[in-house]
Formats: sequence, C-alpha cells, structure tokens
Amino acid sequence: ATSTARVAALPTAELHLHIEGTLEPEMVFELAARNNVGLPFQSVEDLREAYQFTSLQSFLDLYYECMAVLQTRDDFRTLGERYLERAYEQGVRHAEIFFDAQAHTARGLAAEDVLDGLLDALHTGARKGISGGLILSFLRDRPVPEALETLESLAHRAGDLLAVGLDSAEVGYPPELFTPVFARAKELGLRVVAHAGEEGPAAYVWEALDLLGAERIDHGIRSIEDPELIERLRRERIPLTLCPFSNVKLAVISSLAEHPILDLLDQGIMVTVNSDDPAYFGGYLADNMAGLTAAFPSLEESALERLARNSVDASFAGSERKAELH
Ligand code: HPA
Ligand code: ZN
Repeated sequence: ATSTARVAALPTAELHLHIEGTLEPEMVFELAARNNVGLPFQSVEDLREAYQFTSLQSFLDLYYECMAVLQTRDDFRTLGERYLERAYEQGVRHAEIFFDAQAHTARGLAAEDVLDGLLDALHTGARKGISGGLILSFLRDRPVPEALETLESLAHRAGDLLAVGLDSAEVGYPPELFTPVFARAKELGLRVVAHAGEEGPAAYVWEALDLLGAERIDHGIRSIEDPELIERLRRERIPLTLCPFSNVKLAVISSLAEHPILDLLDQGIMVTVNSDDPAYFGGYLADNMAGLTAAFPSLEESALERLARNSVDASFAGSERKAELH
C-alpha cells in the first residue's frame, strides 16, 4: 500500500467535492456556538457516532441537518478556506467545488452570501497555489421551478460560476426533469456536469449526457451494467468522477475491494478519484487514493500517476494551468 503522504506528492485536481460535505464535526459545534444554533447532538463524539449510513438518503438527512450551522458569508469563507488548506496538504492543486445553493436559500440565506463567501475562499486558495471554481448544483429532489429560480437569481453572477451540476436523492428524480434548467445554464455560458448512476440506473447516465449535455458524470459507477454505455464513455472520453470512500460508506458497494475503478481503468474509461463529502466519508483525496492501494495490492504506481493525470485532464482548467499541473 502507498501512504497518503506519498500519494500527496502527486499534483491532482479534485472534481467531485461538495463544500458542505467538508463540514467536520468540530466545525459544526464551533459554528453552532457562534451562531446560536441548537443541535440534537451532545458532543463532537456523539455526532461522529451518527456517521453510519445505510444509503444515500440516510447520509443526506444528516448532511442537510448539520449545514444549518452555516449562516453567514464569513462561515462559507471559513469552510472553503479550511477545505482548500486540507486539500493542498493532500496534493490537490485545482478544485472544482459543488455548492448546494437551494439547501441554504430554503433556510432563508441569500444565495449571493454563499457565493461570495466561497469566492473569498477561492481567492485565498489562489494566493496559496490552488486554483479552482464553483459548480452550482441543483437539488434533484426539490421542484424543477425552484432550480430554475435559483439559476435566474444568480444569472447576473454567471461569470463567477464555472458550471452547473445535479445532486441529492437520485432514484425517482431522472435527469430528464431538469432539461430546461440545464439548457438555460448553457445559454449563460456555464459548463455542465451531473451526478448519475450512483444509486440510480445506467439509463440516468444516458439522460445526463443526451438531455442535459453533461461533460462529466459524477459517480457513474452503475455504467458498468451497460456495455453500450461503457463503449460510449470510452469513445467520447467522458470522465467519471469516482468517489471510492463515499461508495462504501453509502453502501453502493460492499467494500473498497469491490470497487470497479480498476476494471473501468482497464477498459480505457477516463476515471478520476475524488472525495465527495470527506468530513462524512473518512478522508480527503489522497486518503481515497491510499485506500485504493491498500484494497488493491496489484495497483501500481503508474496507475496512481494515470489517475492523477486524468484528474487534471478531466478538469475545466485552462490549457496553461493543465500544463503546469502535469
Ligand atoms: N450524491 C448525491 N448528492 C450528494 C452527494 C452524493 O454523493 N453528496 C452530497 N450531495
Ligand atoms: Zn457527490
């Protein structure tokens, strides 16, 4: 196995990271105290013990509950800065970060406070050598008109966004529903990604590609059930942003050794390793890579280098930045 420290020597791009999923239990308590928010947990340990999930939904329930402590622009700046510091220590040099605007506006926050706080953090990160951008991610289990309103409310700030995405509870909320939202995002000049094929079927991956115009698929591991889809992903070099620790924690697979990442790599799919919600799933990007080397003794250094290289290639960074990171 390769240690986290050795993996961290490889420069990588993190492409699948929910900023709200970097809210560590200590910070939940710190912000709860600062903002006078009550918590149904007695202590940090008590909260950590609740981190036992049986499905995506069981995680989402806790994830949305904890983010109630995030109240101000400054909270989002702190959250973003702390993530970028930890990511930097793990070798991440470029981060494309999801934020769930609707989870905050539904609580009465202004979308622009969230956006501005995260932009503050990215500016701090840029000074320290980590580039990146923000992905406005729509919650697929909330009404489509709400997603459209959220997008319109930030349309005048489209220049501060990199892309749009689609996340939250997947089964029963096919990408097709969001076709008009993504069409509008493209009109605004935004890049497009979408979660698909995590708990949902391979058919959702097809829809994300054909109806939403997704340029990358987040998770997408259930693509392995559909050989025709695999062939398309390979031919068109469509990246999958895989999150190994997440898949185990949410019981999408039974153990790390069952992860299809090496199969996918062998089949010529553009796969990348990411951390998804590292505060909840047990580690950051290099921790995920190191975990894979422990689970797969046959995983060679050259495969780690390939994964790191893929992450940069699959990013939306400009060609000059990509060259710097290679
Ligand atoms: N899947 C869907 N929605 C999410 C996730 C995820 O892994 N993490 C945070 N929101
Ligand atoms: Zn995700």
